[in-house]
Amino acid sequence: MNKISAAITAVGSYVPDHVLTNQMLEDMVDTNDEWITTRTGIKERRILKDPNKGTSYLGIQAAKNLIEKNNINPEEIDLIIFATATPDMLVASTGAYTASEIGAVNAFSYDLQAACSSFLYAMSTAASYIETGRYKKVLVIGADKMSSIIDYTDRATCIIFGDGAGAVLFEPNQEGLGLQDEYLRSDGIGRNFLKIEAGGSLLPPSEETVANRQHFVHQDGKNVFKYAVSNMADVSAKIMERNNLSDSDVNWLVAHQANKRIIDATAKRMGVPEEKVLMNIQRYGNTTSATLPLLLSDFENKLKKGDNLVFASFGGGFTWGSIYLKWAYNS
Ligand SMILES: CC(C)(COP(=O)(O)OP(=O)(O)OC[C@H]1O[C@@H](n2cnc3c(N)ncnc32)[C@H](O)[C@@H]1OP(=O)(O)O)[C@@H](O)C(=O)NCCC(=O)NCCS
Repeated sequence: MNKISAAITAVGSYVPDHVLTNQMLEDMVDTNDEWITTRTGIKERRILKDPNKGTSYLGIQAAKNLIEKNNINPEEIDLIIFATATPDMLVASTGAYTASEIGAVNAFSYDLQAACSSFLYAMSTAASYIETGRYKKVLVIGADKMSSIIDYTDRATCIIFGDGAGAVLFEPNQEGLGLQDEYLRSDGIGRNFLKIEAGGSLLPPSEETVANRQHFVHQDGKNVFKYAVSNMADVSAKIMERNNLSDSDVNWLVAHQANKRIIDATAKRMGVPEEKVLMNIQRYGNTTSATLPLLLSDFENKLKKGDNLVFASFGGGFTWGSIYLKWAYNS
């Protein structure tokens, strides 16, 4: 019997309706469309305005989109991994709630948090469950309501992030398609440069932490940029080298959408031309755990069976890595 590999067999996505444009941000903070566009590539992002809805809402919509589009019976799903940096609540698993809401009554479910690399790491985790033969249908959801942790008076962060969700289904494949290799890294130095200081066990919430705006994302953009550029390019080049992939062997670069300049630098290092780089940062900004599945969903009809995809991500922690995957279907 052929070796079992873990293939993506379906994708889905959801973004909320409300659009926050660069022009709207000009009225909120001291910034301008030209600065944001040239420094980041972002033109607009989506925001979940309903104060009674959390990240689970985004994830549930993305999962339902996948289920309905592909006629999947949710009762057959074995496991749901919910990749997010903005769970609905601490302690109570957002994944468990999501599983119940979509009718995945036979699944177990948990959250996986690795900042902007949450989805990439979750792909690796999901694939491992499939490769062992233990489970047959693993749903990976990447969703973040970044607007819940962004300070809309801080121009260094509020221009970057947006809300959204995507979902992919992993299933066993015996044709050699699916996940081929991964190279995942982390470095704790990152918590000096990108963090929410309060609300965790190190600095529990207090009147003082709220007054000091310590429940919002703070980042030293310049340093994060420096680490992101070199590390994301390094791992992508490494995965190509390890798998004897030349630039012409790579069909698509699927990179975390944090900053267009970081993605361009990664593509350049790999020798991959612009037309092979999936890009939607201009429409959504950085949706953290949702960027990779949103790319797959937006560009699903371009992906062909057998195509070589190189995924790359970089995020808080720091966490980063690259995955080489062979696409398994024509849509
Ligand atoms: C945030 C980021 C876009 C800023 O771009 P940058 O080129 O590094 O800009 P700097 O922070 O050096 O700021 C340059 C100038 O623009 C100003 N500036 C910062 N934000 C601004 C904004 N929104 N509008 C206008 N000016 C702004 C700064 O105050 C600074 O002014 P000064 O030179 O007078 O001090 C960039 O650093 C970045 O993308 N970093 C990585 C972020 C990231 O990927 N985070 C998520 C990781 S997953």
